[in-house]
Amino acid sequence: MHTIDNISQLRSYLWQAKLDHKVIAFVPTMGNLHEGHLQLIDRALEEADLVVASIFVNPLQFGPGEDFNGYPRTFMNDQEKLLSRGCHVLFAPTVEEMYPKTNLSSTVVKVPHLDHLLCAATRPGHFTGVATVVSKLFGIVQPDVAIFGLKDYQQFLVIKQMTFDLCLPVKIIGAPIARAESGLALSSRNGYLNEQELHQAAQLYASLTSCRIALETGKFTMPELEEQAQSQLEAIGFKRDYFTICRQSDLQPAGPEDKELAIVAAAYLGKARLIDNIRFSLN
Ligand code: PAF
Repeated sequence: MHTIDNISQLRSYLWQAKLDHKVIAFVPTMGNLHEGHLQLIDRALEEADLVVASIFVNPLQFGPGEDFNGYPRTFMNDQEKLLSRGCHVLFAPTVEEMYPKTNLSSTVVKVPHLDHLLCAATRPGHFTGVATVVSKLFGIVQPDVAIFGLKDYQQFLVIKQMTFDLCLPVKIIGAPIARAESGLALSSRNGYLNEQELHQAAQLYASLTSCRIALETGKFTMPELEEQAQSQLEAIGFKRDYFTICRQSDLQPAGPEDKELAIVAAAYLGKARLIDNIRFSLN
């Protein structure tokens, strides 16, 4: 595996692959890799001849008081994991390489209709930071395919919309959420949880699946189910952010006529803010 920290070196390396008509798949990450990230690499290897991963903790997507400084940086471990999974190229730029001017990025990419609700309401500017860095990374790597985990479903929709709106020739693939045996979605931020919190955290996924089952019985309204789930989570130690039944296509609140649904949730537990979702068709 080649590890490259410089944009022009990466371009020269990939230029030959492009001349050879190799299909390039890209997996952007912020490092602290877990099995979920490595499954994105597996998927990328199925799609392409050459797999490029990036590790870059992007300051632009963290708000004031968020965990940018404390975000776990485990570069050597990550490098070994990527190598053993068969990744071909690791791009690991510095902040100065990605944002050479002191004010980070003067051009930003914003997807307005997804930039005020759910996670965006709690983390203003977060998705603009994500869309901006991903479009820069797409410009640098110029992949044919890019793979994103569906745990951050709002992020996945933001990136799909941004890619479509900017006519970027990149196929966006969403990979299934990797879960621990308890059902807890794998996340770099799970490392913030102690033993007891890790055990409690599994209830977030359990509450999503119970909500879906209750919804299918048709006995409760959607707002009733959302409130029940939030109260049950609070009763076992979570602090609420949102728990919403919405349309899968655009995350707008679902109505009785909608059949393609997503239940999306975010909640605080100890030092972590956890997110999860399930997506399904209502018969
Ligand atoms: O999901 C992440 O890890 C990040 O938001 C991403 C897509 C790598 C952009 O920094």
